Amino acid sequence: MTVITTAIIIGCGQRGSIYGDFALDYPSRMNVVAVAEPIRRRRLKFKERFGINENMAFKDWRSLAMLGKVADVAIITTQDQMHKEPAIAFAQQGYHILLEKPMAVDENDCNEIASACEENKVIGTVCHVLRYFPPCIKIKELISSGEIGDIVSINHCENIGYWHFAHSFVRGNWRNRDMSTFSLLAKCCHDIDLIMFWMGGVKCTSVQSFGGLYHFKKDKKPKHASDRCLDCPVEQTCPYSAKKIYLEQSSGYPHWPMSVVCDIEDHPGGYHQALTEALEHSNYGKCVYGECDNDVCDHQTVNMEFETGATAVMTMSAFTMELSRRETRICGTLGEIRWDGGATSAIIVHKFATRDTKEVFPDAILPKGCRMTRHAGADFFLMDSFIKAVVSGDNSLVLSDMRESLNSHKLVFAAERSRIKKTIESLS
Ligand SMILES: NC(=O)c1ccc[n+]([C@@H]2O[C@H](COP(=O)([O-])OP(=O)(O)OC[C@H]3O[C@@H](n4cnc5c(N)ncnc54)[C@H](O)[C@@H]3O)[C@@H](O)[C@H]2O)c1
Repeated sequence: MTVITTAIIIGCGQRGSIYGDFALDYPSRMNVVAVAEPIRRRRLKFKERFGINENMAFKDWRSLAMLGKVADVAIITTQDQMHKEPAIAFAQQGYHILLEKPMAVDENDCNEIASACEENKVIGTVCHVLRYFPPCIKIKELISSGEIGDIVSINHCENIGYWHFAHSFVRGNWRNRDMSTFSLLAKCCHDIDLIMFWMGGVKCTSVQSFGGLYHFKKDKKPKHASDRCLDCPVEQTCPYSAKKIYLEQSSGYPHWPMSVVCDIEDHPGGYHQALTEALEHSNYGKCVYGECDNDVCDHQTVNMEFETGATAVMTMSAFTMELSRRETRICGTLGEIRWDGGATSAIIVHKFATRDTKEVFPDAILPKGCRMTRHAGADFFLMDSFIKAVVSGDNSLVLSDMRESLNSHKLVFAAERSRIKKTIESLS
């Protein structure tokens, strides 16, 4: 018999909505019984979507927490700086925790979250979706099979994408370190965690990082550019034009990134008008050159050294055509693995001894009709594993617990210290 896991969702924005979809696709496995969200229209939308009782939809997670434990799991999808308090409060009440990355924006806070999950014996999972991304799992299997011998070096790139960077890290929620966090943590805690996943239990002993904000600042502003894109005389020649990003191009996703700018669907003038008005007044219509109070790095490298003597280099760059697409080369003593980051791309394995090159494809296939298609289904595989772990009480069904996520987060914090202080940070 299938057991229905009951869930509460804290933060009904982009990510909360995606994880909530699991309950719509699999009502026999998950039921959302309460939500917390200060924005009224989002709260009402969730209430309607999940058939939640009037008295179970709250403006703030604290009011929900005052009820005591009303469900099995708490899905925490608030913004980066608002993870710690609800994660600890709900873990203390005995909820199993699904927590969006980054765990928190301060290393001590990450520590406290991991301890709260352990002390209260709840399953705690950080949404490191790359661990559930089918090609990344296949690469892990290839490494574990010994086909390429011992890993000696890894080159891994996170290609953020030029307009995606402008949207999220110049104009958007992750633009300012004090308001959110540094971009390596916000974007690449995934990538550092993935490198650790592939390295298995091998410890990283030192880390070093370089980077900064190269381009999105006042002194790079083109001559004659105005402060907002909609009335800018040089908008047509600008790669980062808000008009191009939100009103003209197709991102390949049905609603994103427009839904971040404006999620009002019942404007009398229609959605296009609502979106245009949002661009006239909000940050999302501002020039990317010095008008957005952005200060996070647009490029950064991280060098890692492991206890075996192996090394890894991770490069984060805003200035790529590809959008959030990784590229990886893993070099071993017996062969190499190459992957271009595509969800269905071949993983190329070359074996030195036989001179053979083969193409390997990921096996995991998203169930038909499943609406959790973002991250090529990794969001689904994460939820699927988490719910299975909760139902069975078997923590090993999730691919990383809070402690493991804490360890990879520690590397990210160390890398940022290295960048700022120009040091090599030891992790032993
Ligand atoms: N795993 C991934 O690949 C991935 C991808 C994108 C974002 N994220 C992370 O997910 C988190 C959420 O991102 P998002 O894009 O969904 O953000 P969002 O801004 O769309 O959603 C956050 C929601 O939390 C709500 N909120 C604010 N205060 C609250 C309170 N007191 N109680 C309850 N809700 C409250 C906000 O109103 C908002 O609707 C962030 O930490 C982000 O970095 C993870």
